[in-house]
Amino acid sequence: MGRDILKTAVDRIGPGSPALFPRAFFMLAVAALVFAAPASATFKKEAPNSCIDCHKGLEDARLREPVALWSASVHAEVGNTCDGCHGGNPADTAKSSMAKENNFYAAPKKNEIVQFCGKCHKELSDNFMKSEHGTTGEQTCIGCHGSHTIRRISIDIINEDKCSECHDYDEAEKLKNILQGLHGKFQESKSKAKMITGLPTEPLNKELDKVWTKLRQVRMISHTFDIPKVETFAQKTGESIDQVDLEITRLLDVVRERKIWGYAAVALFALLAASFYFYNKSGPSRG
Ligand code: HEC
Ligand code: HEC
Ligand code: HEC
Ligand code: HEC
Ligand code: HEC
Repeated sequence: MGRDILKTAVDRIGPGSPALFPRAFFMLAVAALVFAAPASATFKKEAPNSCIDCHKGLEDARLREPVALWSASVHAEVGNTCDGCHGGNPADTAKSSMAKENNFYAAPKKNEIVQFCGKCHKELSDNFMKSEHGTTGEQTCIGCHGSHTIRRISIDIINEDKCSECHDYDEAEKLKNILQGLHGKFQESKSKAKMITGLPTEPLNKELDKVWTKLRQVRMISHTFDIPKVETFAQKTGESIDQVDLEITRLLDVVRERKIWGYAAVALFALLAASFYFYNKSGPSRG
């Protein structure tokens, strides 16, 4: 009976039957690789880098400071060095490393930045160019993320101080609420899922990963700054989270039910043991 509960629990997790899982996930993995390749390319982290070596010793603060700022950034963490953004040849220790022939790209001007970052973050820059931020050209990637100081993202990038410099905070706040609500919902389901014990949770985790991919997509779409569009996608993703959450709740019920059966079995066993004891005790005195 325990096994049956387990089986239905596993089968009901996903929309696909277990046989469909591997193929669907293989395709998903391929798709993820294709789409994620540019911004998750591997870099040679430890290779000597002339840009860093020369710039960190330069007199002029304007030329020197990017090194320290960059060192604490997410790009340093993932190994995207100076040349990833600025081009040039980091193996050449002379100033010729910044020659035109090495595709050197000096500090980009304001109207070049979206394309500059879009070399690796293409989906985001494409979406961004559709936004009013992109078409008016007043706001660029570095207005929100910085250039050398770029950190791992946080929803607090959207705040009243920053977002009311050029317009009302209303629309910005709406966007923040949509994204924050979705992140909160996802985190809640994720922590609930952690409380499932004694059942195989792999299929469930795969469903959670799928939902996470959708959530990432909402993030991509958020760079259109088109609130109704973001809202539509966020709502769909919210519904997917709800579905997975229903399954999590059901599995938690199974866990609870099993515990109750467990307690009942222990109680029954204790009762049997007690009856045996009294039976044995009273047995000989009868005869
Ligand atoms: C031998 C020292 C040296 C090396 C190596 C070097 N730079 Fe420079 N870099 C300089 C100096 C000096 C300047 C100031 C402009 C000038 O004198 O040409 C500069 C300027 C720059 C600028 C600012 C350009 C502007 O117009 O504002 C950037 C960006 C830059 N370097 C990036 C790089 C990158 C990327 C590399 C590696 C591929 C690199 N540098 C390698 C010395 C160096
Ligand atoms: C994520 C992309 C990125 C990386 C990595 C990066 N830069 Fe830059 N850099 C920019 C952008 C964008 C600008 C122009 C806007 C600005 O000044 O903030 C810039 C401007 C500069 C300037 C001109 C500064 C000024 O005030 O005129 C220098 C010098 C420079 N970078 C050097 C470096 C060096 C050295 C490294 C490596 C330690 C580096 N950059 C890594 C994006 C990057
Ligand atoms: C008006 C502010 C703003 C501008 C401009 C902006 N971003 Fe963002 N970006 C955000 C916020 C806020 C998030 C986090 C959204 C979330 O948590 O759901 C984010 C997320 C990201 C992420 C993480 C996405 C992921 O999950 O992989 C990257 C990378 C990024 N932005 C790059 C860019 C680039 C490149 C540009 C320019 C084309 C840009 N951003 C312009 C606010 C901005
Ligand atoms: C040479 C490729 C390259 C360029 C050019 C580049 N990035 Fe990145 N960026 C990356 C990689 C790789 C990551 C790490 C992705 C990861 O680990 O999720 C990253 C991460 C980020 C993140 C953090 C995402 C997160 O999940 O928290 C932000 C924000 C970001 N980049 C913004 C920018 C901006 C703004 C520019 C332009 C000034 C830029 N990037 C240029 C490769 C690049
Ligand atoms: C450098 C100026 C500037 C800053 C800073 C800025 N924006 Fe904008 N934003 C604009 C411009 C210009 C528009 C075009 C419409 C307008 O003028 O209101 C716009 C439009 C928008 C829209 C679309 C409004 C609509 O009606 O469709 C959203 C959403 C938005 N911004 C969000 C943000 C957020 C979030 C921040 C803070 C992280 C921010 N903005 C910071 C310049 C800016």
